[in-house]
Amino acid sequence: LSKIIILLLIIILIILILLLLIIIIINKNMHLIYSRGSTPKVFWNKKKERALWNKLQKKVDLQLNPILHPGAPQTAPDTSLLSQSLSELKDSAGHSLLTEQLQYHVSLMSRRQYPVLLQPRGQCGAGDAQERGHTLLLLAIKTSALNYRYRQAIRQSWGQAGWVSPQRSMGEGRGAYVRRLFLLGTVHSPDLRNRTSDLLHLESRHYGDMLQWDMWDSPLNGTMQRLLFWSWFRDICGHTDFVLEGDDQVFVNTPALVSLLQEQLDKPCSHLQDFMMGNVVSRRQPERILHSQEFIPESFYRGWYPPFTRGEGRVFSALLLERLFLVSNRVHLFPIEQVYVGICMFHLNLSPTHHPAVLPSDWTKEQEEEPCAVHKVLLLRTHSHTHMLQLWERSNTHTGPCANSTVPPLTTRGIKVTTGAKKHVWLQSWHSLWKNL
Ligand SMILES: *[C@@H]1O[C@H](CO)[C@@H](O)[C@H](O)[C@H]1NC(C)=O
Ligand SMILES: *[C@@H]1O[C@H](CO)[C@@H](O)[C@H](O)[C@H]1NC(C)=O
Ligand SMILES: *[C@@H]1O[C@H](CO)[C@@H](O)[C@H](O)[C@H]1NC(C)=O
Repeated sequence: LSKIIILLLIIILIILILLLLIIIIINKNMHLIYSRGSTPKVFWNKKKERALWNKLQKKVDLQLNPILHPGAPQTAPDTSLLSQSLSELKDSAGHSLLTEQLQYHVSLMSRRQYPVLLQPRGQCGAGDAQERGHTLLLLAIKTSALNYRYRQAIRQSWGQAGWVSPQRSMGEGRGAYVRRLFLLGTVHSPDLRNRTSDLLHLESRHYGDMLQWDMWDSPLNGTMQRLLFWSWFRDICGHTDFVLEGDDQVFVNTPALVSLLQEQLDKPCSHLQDFMMGNVVSRRQPERILHSQEFIPESFYRGWYPPFTRGEGRVFSALLLERLFLVSNRVHLFPIEQVYVGICMFHLNLSPTHHPAVLPSDWTKEQEEEPCAVHKVLLLRTHSHTHMLQLWERSNTHTGPCANSTVPPLTTRGIKVTTGAKKHVWLQSWHSLWKNL
C-alpha cells in the first residue's frame, strides 16, 4: 500500500512540475500569445458569417486570398470588388435586422466620392511661407463647423504652423516645419448650414487651413471623411513625413512630438513604412448596448476588433498612409472610424504601437496639478478651449524643476499589456492556448 501511495505522490509531483513548467512558458511568451490571440485571424468563420459586415468582407478577402488565388495582389486597384460584393448581398436576410441607422449606412457603403467645398489653395494646409524642403508633420484636425473657439485656441497654441523647435530639454534636436489643416463636413440642419457657410468661407480665406467636404458631420460619415482625407493627402501633400490625425478638443505637446518624430526619422526607412503610434486598444468587443454611441448589433459585426488607436489622436508616417489608402480599396466601410483604421492595419498585417503619453489613461485632476506633469504627455483630452490654452502655456514653461522634464521615449513595439489588465490577460492566454492546440 505504501508503495502505491509513494507512486501516487510521485505522479502528483510530476504533474505539478509539468504545470509549473507550462505556467513559466506561458508567462515568458505571454506577450506573444496575448498579441496573437487578440487579433482575429480572419473576419469570417462559420459563426461570424451571420453578420452582414463579416459576410461582405469575406467575399472580398476570398477573392484576394493569395492561397486560393496565387498571384492575387494584396491591395485592389479600385473599389469594384467592394461594390460587387455589396450588390450580391443587397437583399440578404440579415439586412432587415439592422437598426435604421445602420441600414442607411449600408445603403451608402458603396459611395466613396463627395465634393470638396473648401480647401487651402494648392497647398497642404497652412504653413510657413519661408518653408523649404520637407514638412515633418501635418496636423490634420477633425473639427465641426460650430467649434470655432476650439479652432482659434489650436491656432494660437499647439497648432501654430511654421518652424517648431524641439522640446527644449530633449538635447540636440533640430526642430522642423509643421503644417496645420482642419477637416470638416457640413452641419446637419439646413438653416445652420446656410448661416455657417459664409463664416467658414471667410475663415478659410483668412487662415488657409480648412478642408471641407459636402458631407454631414455624423459619426457614420467619420470613416468616409478619413478616406477622403487620405486621398486628398496623396494628391496634394508630397514632402510630408508624418501626419497627426486628431480631434479639435485635445492638447498636443507639439515640440515633444517633433523631437520624437525626428528620432524616428533617424531609424532605418523600413521601420517608417509601418509606423503608427497612439493610445492602443488591443482587446475590444463591439458595444452591444442599444443607444450607446458605438452600438454595433450582432447582425452587423461579430468577433473582436483588431487592435486600434483611439480616435482622439494617432500619428503615423506618410508612407503608411499611402499603404492604408491602397488597402482601404478592399475593406468595406465600418461605421466606427478608429476601428476601420484598425481593420485596415490588420489587412496590412500590422498593429499600432502604444505610447503611454498619448491620452494617458490614469490621468486625473491630481496628476494634472503636479508641477511638471504636462511636460511628460504628448496628447491629452481637454475640457474647454481655455483649458487647452492653459495646458499649452504650462508646457512651454521650462524653468525650475521642470527644466529637464520630458516625454518618455518610444521604446516598446507591439501591444502594451498593462498591469491592471494582467488577470484578464492570463485568462485570455489560457483561452487562446487551448484554441491554438
Ligand atoms: C439656404 O440658402 C439657399 C441659397 O443660398 C436658399 O435657396 C435656401 O432657401 C436657404 N435655406 C435656408 C433654410 O435658409
Ligand atoms: C453622409 O453625408 C452625406 C452627404 O451630406 C449624406 O447624404 C448622408 O446622409 C450622410 N450619412 C450619414 C450616415 O449621416
Ligand atoms: C538639468 O540637466 C542639466 C544637465 O544635464 C543639469 O546640469 C541640471 O542640474 C538639471 N536641472 C534640474 C532641475 O534637474
